[in-house]
Amino acid sequence: MNIGIVGTGYVGLVTGVCLSAIGHTVYCVDNDREKLKTLRKGIATIYEPGLQELMTKQIKKKKLFFCETIKEASKKSLVIFIAVGTPSKKNGDADLTYVENVARQIALSMDSYKLIVEKSTVPAATGRRIENTIKVNLPKKFKERGHNVPFDVASNPEFLREGSAIADFMNPDRVVIGVESKKAEELLKEIYKPLKTRIVVTNITSAEIIKHASNSFLATKISFANALSQICDKVGADILKVTEGMGYDKRIGPSFLNAGIGFGGSCFPKDVDAFIRLSEKSGYDFNLLKAVRLTNEEQKAAFVRLIEDKLWIIKGKKIGVLGLAFKPNTDDMRNAPSVDIITRLQAEGAKIKAYDPQAMDQAKKIFKGMTFCQNVYAVAKDSDCLVVLTEWDEFRQVDFKRLKNVMRQPMIFDGRNLYKNDHLDDLGFEYFGIGRGVV
Ligand code: UGA
Repeated sequence: MNIGIVGTGYVGLVTGVCLSAIGHTVYCVDNDREKLKTLRKGIATIYEPGLQELMTKQIKKKKLFFCETIKEASKKSLVIFIAVGTPSKKNGDADLTYVENVARQIALSMDSYKLIVEKSTVPAATGRRIENTIKVNLPKKFKERGHNVPFDVASNPEFLREGSAIADFMNPDRVVIGVESKKAEELLKEIYKPLKTRIVVTNITSAEIIKHASNSFLATKISFANALSQICDKVGADILKVTEGMGYDKRIGPSFLNAGIGFGGSCFPKDVDAFIRLSEKSGYDFNLLKAVRLTNEEQKAAFVRLIEDKLWIIKGKKIGVLGLAFKPNTDDMRNAPSVDIITRLQAEGAKIKAYDPQAMDQAKKIFKGMTFCQNVYAVAKDSDCLVVLTEWDEFRQVDFKRLKNVMRQPMIFDGRNLYKNDHLDDLGFEYFGIGRGVV
C-alpha cells in the first residue's frame, strides 16, 4: 500500500522506515528543510539502533522516499499518517497548531479518497477536530458532492520506546486502531497484517484515551517504585528485593518498577501533564496523576540532597557524571533528569565533567560551563565523586580498580542502580544507590 508520513521526528521516521520494511511504499515529508535535505541524502536524523541500516536498505529497494511537500506525499498515498510534534503549552495543554496545519494542507491537496491517521499523541476528540478542519478546507468539487465525503479519519496511537523502537514496531504487544468506518478499519488492518499481532479496534476517542492511559499508567508505576525507594532508604529495606517480590505477582508484573532518578523523555512528562489538563477540562480532578508528577520531581530533588549530604560542601567539588540522555540507547536529551540534577549541582558551585556515549552533541546545546570527556576514566580523573544518571551498557564494563586509582575520592552515587551487583563497598568505594536502605 502507498502510505504518506507527515513529520519525521522519532515516531514519524521510525514508523515510515518500518512500514516500508513490512512491504509498503512510504512517502515521508517534513517542513524542516535541513532535516529533509539530510534524509534525502539517506542519512537518519536521529540515533536509533538499527534505523540507519534499515533506512538505507529500504531506500535502495525504492520502497522509501522523502518528498518536498505534503501535496506530493499525499497525492501518492492512500493512507496518510500525521506524526508531527504536539509540544506542551505553558498551561500543560498540548499545542496542536502543527496538527491543524497539516490537516489543512492534506485537505487542500486531496484529489481522491484518503484515510488520515493521527499518530501523534493528541488529546481526546482531536480526531473530530481534524475531520472538521479537513471538511472545511476540501477542494470545492468535493464539497459540492455533499454527502460523498472522500476521506476518513482514524487514530492509531504509538507505543514505541526510543532505543528499541524498531523491535517494538516489529513485535508489538498490540496495535490499537480507532476508526469510525468499515473502510478505515479494513485499510488499517491490511497495513498491519504482516505483523500478525493482536489488533484492538475501537472508536477514535477511545483509541486516543488508550494512549494517554497507557503512558500515564507506566509513569504511575515508576513513581510508585520511586516513592517506595524513599521508604526503603528510611527503614533499611532494599527496593530491588521489594520490587522483585512484587513483580512475580502476574497482576503486578516486573516491568517499569525500576526506581531511579525519575522518568524523563519527550513522552511521559508531557503526556502526564496533558492528561491532567484533559481531565481538568472534562471536569475531573486527576489527583492521582498530579501526585505521580510531584513524586517524579521530588525524586530528582532527593537525589541531589543525597549528594549534598554525603559530599558535604558542593562548592568547588569536581563531580563526574556518567550518562546524560534520558535513558540508554538514545541521544535524546528532552526532559532528561540529568538536566535538572546537573543544573542544581552547578548552581551550588560544583564543577561538572561528563560523558555520554551518544548524547553529548545534544547536551552541548543545553549545558554551559561543563567539561565533556571522551570516556569514563577521563570523567573519573580527579573527581570527588561519580554520579550515574543513565544506565548505558558501556558503563557496566568498567575496570573499578582503574576507576578508583584515578578518582580523588572513591565515591559513587548510582541514580540507576546500575552497579547493584558489583559489591562496590567491598572494592573500597563509598557506594549509594537508590532505595538500597543505606542512607
Ligand atoms: C514511552 C513509552 O514507553 C512508549 O510505549 C511510548 O510509545 C512512548 O513513551 C511515546 O509516547 O512515544 P520512551 O519515552 O521512549 O517510551 O521511554 P521509556 O522506556 O518508556 O522510558 C521513559 C522514562 O522512564 C525514562 O526516563 C526511563 O529512564 C524511565 N523509567 C522507565 C524508569 O525510571 N523506570 C522504569 O522502570 C522504566
